[in-house]
Amino acid sequence: MQITITGTGYVGLVTGVCLAEIGHNVICYDIDEPKVQMMKQGISPIYEPGLDELMRKNMEQGRLFFTADEQVAYGQADIIYIAVGTPEKEDGSADLTYVEEAALAISRYVRKRVIVVIKSTVPVGTNDRIQRMIHEHKAAEADITVVSNPEFLREGSAIYDMFHGDRIVIGANDPEAATVIADINKPFGIPIIHTDIRSAEMIKYAANAFLATKISFINEIANICEKVGANIDDVAYGIGQDHRIGPHFLKAGIGYGGSCFPKDTKALVQLAGNVQHQFELLESVIRVNNRQQLGLLDKAKQYVGSLQGKKVALLGLSFKPHTDDVRESAAIIMAKKLVDEGAYVVAYDPVAVENAKKQLPESVQYAATVVEAIDAAEVAFIVTEWEEIKQTPLYVFQEQMLTPFIFDGRNCYSLENARYSGVTYISIGRAPIFGHVCQQTK
Ligand code: UGA
Repeated sequence: MQITITGTGYVGLVTGVCLAEIGHNVICYDIDEPKVQMMKQGISPIYEPGLDELMRKNMEQGRLFFTADEQVAYGQADIIYIAVGTPEKEDGSADLTYVEEAALAISRYVRKRVIVVIKSTVPVGTNDRIQRMIHEHKAAEADITVVSNPEFLREGSAIYDMFHGDRIVIGANDPEAATVIADINKPFGIPIIHTDIRSAEMIKYAANAFLATKISFINEIANICEKVGANIDDVAYGIGQDHRIGPHFLKAGIGYGGSCFPKDTKALVQLAGNVQHQFELLESVIRVNNRQQLGLLDKAKQYVGSLQGKKVALLGLSFKPHTDDVRESAAIIMAKKLVDEGAYVVAYDPVAVENAKKQLPESVQYAATVVEAIDAAEVAFIVTEWEEIKQTPLYVFQEQMLTPFIFDGRNCYSLENARYSGVTYISIGRAPIFGHVCQQTK
């Protein structure tokens, strides 16, 4: 079977490389010529742990190729995965332009039996629409079936997830096509769920919406914990031990970011609205998250006063560790607001600086290390829980900063640790520690 993957973003490239790793012949196609040249040299255009190595290994073994040529991509393929982006439109709905363009290009080149697998996250009903579109435009001899196969990969651990995911969902109206796609995925050894196309599309949105709901829920509990003197870490552990709730996605913090949860929750609210259903619960989840992303900044102003003219260290720029993706990252939102308010911002991130630079005002400075970022700073915000940040002992903050006010959006340190380090440490859903403020007033 010859497999083509269209779109070499976080989903497409990882899927292509991992399908090659389990023995398939894969061509990854992208319209971006310079990006394809880079991949041909074994360099991944995205930061994803382990991806470069696996990419080079499969290229050397002759199973993985890259092209920017549509004819090469679609001419001989038996299976074509569409893994292009579905960015958010202004009204919150998903922009399907790239998916439709890919479908039209496939219709132009295919002359035989081909299964088109839609991996991109698309609103319910899209697969059926793409199937109709292909039928209207394809050559008479082409026999093309669309199958929905949503992805559940997390950025930063996408390769691990490809081999250890909880399930693979295959939505198809053609049982033969569903069996072919199931067989292709068999070597991953992951349970396969077969369903109809629309249910598969809905599983993807419902899964992301549920996980986002868990996060906003625990963040709200954290906000209440702060007011009633409870500790969110203990509360999350306490409820997570109940098997009906489960321990995952109960980490309170600065809100969810990334290219998926913010976009998919809004798209599902839109989708529900289109069928005259107001998804009130999910609307609240989104509102809570928007507020949470700026909550730490509000707290800082409450404790420190105006941040105008102050040196502020922003630790972490990506929306979570192990990725260079800064889309919808709380750090980006905070940095812009800090600059607007006249703060002098010095940011640190081990891998996301180049991507952040494209989004942030020029006045933001970048440090090569945590210590450089916090040097002489009056306030430090911890936004992403990178190891490099978590492993910086609090006494280093105490020694380096002009005034060691630390606002930790990821609860990286224990309160015991903070209590004896002489810093003022404000975290999420836990009691504030007024270390250096107490020392000053002694
Ligand atoms: C998410 C889903 O987890 C994947 O299953 C899905 O395939 C993907 O979206 C997608 O739709 O493509 P991802 O966005 O890479 O994956 O990252 P997550 O690990 O889910 O984290 C999302 C955000 O939630 C991050 O900002 C993270 O810091 C935050 N988060 C996560 C919390 O604040 N608390 C938690 O307990 C967990």
